[in-house]
Amino acid sequence: MSAQRLLVDIHTHVYLPRYAAFLRSRTSVPRIFTRTSPESGKPEERLLILDDEPSSGRPIGSQYWDRDEKLKFMDRHAIDVSVVSSANPWLDFLPAQTAHTLAGELNNDLETYCSTGPSLAQQNLKRLYGFGLLPLVPGATTDSLVSTVEQIASLPHLKGIIMGSRGVGKGLDDEALEPVWAALEKAGLVVFLHPHYGVDKNAWGEKENGHVLPLALGFPFETTIATTRLILSGVFDRYPNLRVLLAHSGGALPQLSSRLASCITHDPLVASRLKHDARYYLGKLYFDAVAYGSEELGFVSDAIGRAEKYASAGASAAASSAKGTDGTEKRRAGAKRMMFGTDHPFFPPLSETGKWKSVVENLEAIDGVYGWDEADKDAVRGGNAFTLFSLGS
Ligand code: URA
Ligand code: ZN
Repeated sequence: MSAQRLLVDIHTHVYLPRYAAFLRSRTSVPRIFTRTSPESGKPEERLLILDDEPSSGRPIGSQYWDRDEKLKFMDRHAIDVSVVSSANPWLDFLPAQTAHTLAGELNNDLETYCSTGPSLAQQNLKRLYGFGLLPLVPGATTDSLVSTVEQIASLPHLKGIIMGSRGVGKGLDDEALEPVWAALEKAGLVVFLHPHYGVDKNAWGEKENGHVLPLALGFPFETTIATTRLILSGVFDRYPNLRVLLAHSGGALPQLSSRLASCITHDPLVASRLKHDARYYLGKLYFDAVAYGSEELGFVSDAIGRAEKYASAGASAAASSAKGTDGTEKRRAGAKRMMFGTDHPFFPPLSETGKWKSVVENLEAIDGVYGWDEADKDAVRGGNAFTLFSLGS
């Protein structure tokens, strides 16, 4: 199969065995605990990672840590390659020294997980690549963070890092992170920005709605806020080659980007701070295609595809030509920055059948985007990931 026709999952998680064992040893959130199943009467493990989730947590099993389970899932859905990332909450809750040591160990573990896994027949490709972890916790030194970036860059199957929105305690617009952005840009590692904290739980009211509100709304709103703060801090002006991939199709950022641009223009404190209109920065970002609907994917690609139109005068040779693009060209341009993902092993089917609904829906969504031709869909399914992560090399 040509590299351009591969199915590549760029949003797929693992709790490496060392990390799962660590969660089992804990008595406070985040933790894995064992209870007697109310249905079967047998012992079962449960996962508790969100501060405000129901105390029964969620079911957890070997699909979270066993590589064979990941490969079985990939085979079941015809996924050729996965770029695997540790699931939230990463190392966020640990003291700085513990986080540093564990990050180094987990990065080596993930390299082994990928490098000793299977290869794709007839191609110079492994089936598993990974995103490493940085010890992004309060009190982390620049040395600790930068040396971990260098460690990850030296591990051939790790192509990026996954991070949450907290940074070293003050969010991602913190000056303390400047050396980290510089090191990541220099190393060419992709930053996968993924939510964990959601938004203030008071927003959810008092009705019991399980995990729906924090996952459907809190997660994407968190990504929206974190990315907007990154844009406002000028990080993308100072590090124009930094590659940031947003979880869940960037949350509400595409929908709110013109409003953001307008608010900036009307605020004397920030009006002259950025080199470009806020909408321009959507064209610097990458977006997973984990949105579950064709209309949403089409809309996100429109918002990305129009970005060049908002480059400030003289900033980009492509800008003037992009200004004349029609709707379809814009939509097709945006497809170049979007990538298939599954969020496995989260969102398993409630009753086990064949394929997972969450996966089928995301594949059907890509297939159904109006205005994307087969080449665009192939790019979103795998070609873009192949290029972004230099998978062939
Ligand atoms: N729930 C999580 O906690 N993390 C994910 O990535 C998806 C769902
Ligand atoms: Zn995820």
